[in-house]
Amino acid sequence: MAVYIHDERERAGMRAAGRVAAATLAHVGARLRSGVSTADIDRWVREDTARREARPSQLGYKGFPAAVCTSRNHVVCHGIPRATERLAPGDIINVDVTSEHAGFHGDTSATFLIGPVDAERRALVEATRRCLAAGVAEVRAGARLGDIGAAVEALARAEGFGVVRDYGGHGIGRAMHMPPHVPHTGRRGRGLRLRAGMAITIEPMLTIGWPALSLLDDGWTVVTADGSPSAQFEHTVLVTESGREVLTAQPVALELNCP
Ligand code: MF3
Ligand code: CO
Ligand code: CO
Repeated sequence: MAVYIHDERERAGMRAAGRVAAATLAHVGARLRSGVSTADIDRWVREDTARREARPSQLGYKGFPAAVCTSRNHVVCHGIPRATERLAPGDIINVDVTSEHAGFHGDTSATFLIGPVDAERRALVEATRRCLAAGVAEVRAGARLGDIGAAVEALARAEGFGVVRDYGGHGIGRAMHMPPHVPHTGRRGRGLRLRAGMAITIEPMLTIGWPALSLLDDGWTVVTADGSPSAQFEHTVLVTESGREVLTAQPVALELNCP
């Protein structure tokens, strides 16, 4: 399983793609409020991506029918936007934007809170955000994939939440999904050794209780088996000689609390 090493030129391409995906996520995030439909989100992603001379990577990917994944409440990931699905107070919703710009892909997501959200869901979202940060902090040349998984898993466990094992992060570059698979659980010192020039995503999904999942009949939507909520955050990260570059970092922190 060869993992692609990006040279200096390709790293510049990846930075540009990461900035596009991050900007579109911020654009959409600033417009979320109760009453918005997930189809509105899909339209905003298409419009904003086009303005940035990019293409939504997810549209048509293995037949995925939309430009963005919108995963609300008990939807863990890969939710399909729908005109009939409207945000309501108390919802949490993950918006996952992947953009292809000049041949490179950037992939990033965040979970937003709509109106007043109950304390358990707020804690879930906050823990997930911190799990992503803990995973990112492990990235450097010479570190192992197991270091990332172990850091995410330890924090999730300490906060009392479950970590999804069936889906994980991935390599990214001239394709949205490339080797390696990046687990959000694991053991320190195990797994692939990271090298400068590798680009991966880290995208932990946390659940309340044990994360048993089911797949809906549409073939895409992944939900918790018991209907309990789930949250996710994602960044695209470049491994560098001295540490890491978060290619989808937000220049101004996203406002996760929406009206
Ligand atoms: N952006 C998703 C990820 O983080 C990809 C979802 S594949 C799709 O890997 F086809 F559902 F869009
Ligand atoms: Co991803
Ligand atoms: Co994504």
